[in-house]
Amino acid sequence: MKNEITVNGKRFGVSLTSSEIQKRVAEVAEQINSDFKGQEVVFIGILNGSFMFAADLLKSINLVSKISFIKVSSYQGTSSTGEVKQLIGISESLEGKNVIVIEDIVDTGRTIKMIANQLKQQNPANIKIATLMFKPTVYSEDVTIDYYGFKIPNDFIVGYGLDYDGYGRNLKDIYTIIK
Ligand code: IMP
Ligand code: MG
Repeated sequence: MKNEITVNGKRFGVSLTSSEIQKRVAEVAEQINSDFKGQEVVFIGILNGSFMFAADLLKSINLVSKISFIKVSSYQGTSSTGEVKQLIGISESLEGKNVIVIEDIVDTGRTIKMIANQLKQQNPANIKIATLMFKPTVYSEDVTIDYYGFKIPNDFIVGYGLDYDGYGRNLKDIYTIIK
């Protein structure tokens, strides 16, 4: 079947098409444009997963803005290791800036909590979180998720930047694991 694929030995079925994703990403960008109208924003993309979302989101942002990336990793296989590491930091000062963190997916929230805490130490004016995918049933942190593309159930997904053990990030649609 065309809308079923195998990634790294597991079967997945299409759950969000590229055009659905593009439409929603543009809507999220519009929300940000209107909330920060007339202000400058520093976007911080979380690698690797957010590279496609960050690219598409920024194309629809009309604010005076900058973007940097940081790299973290918390997953191995299809479940969280519970361990969050920051691998590459940012060099530029965030003091007094409007910071918007761009994530691919918020699951337990441990990653975003750790990132928000580290960024707060640089005294930004504020920190907002923008995630493409959000699993609210698993989320167990107190960090507000300010912008999200899609709320989804607790199923493993790949595509549009999201990976299964490094594979599948190149897919333009988002796929859910077939159990
Ligand atoms: P958290 O710390 O539990 O919120 O996990 C967030 C990170 O885990 C994300 O940045 C992703 O890299 C990864 N992740 C969580 N759920 C999925 C999924 O369904 N597919 C692929 N990666 C996921
Ligand atoms: Mg990841």
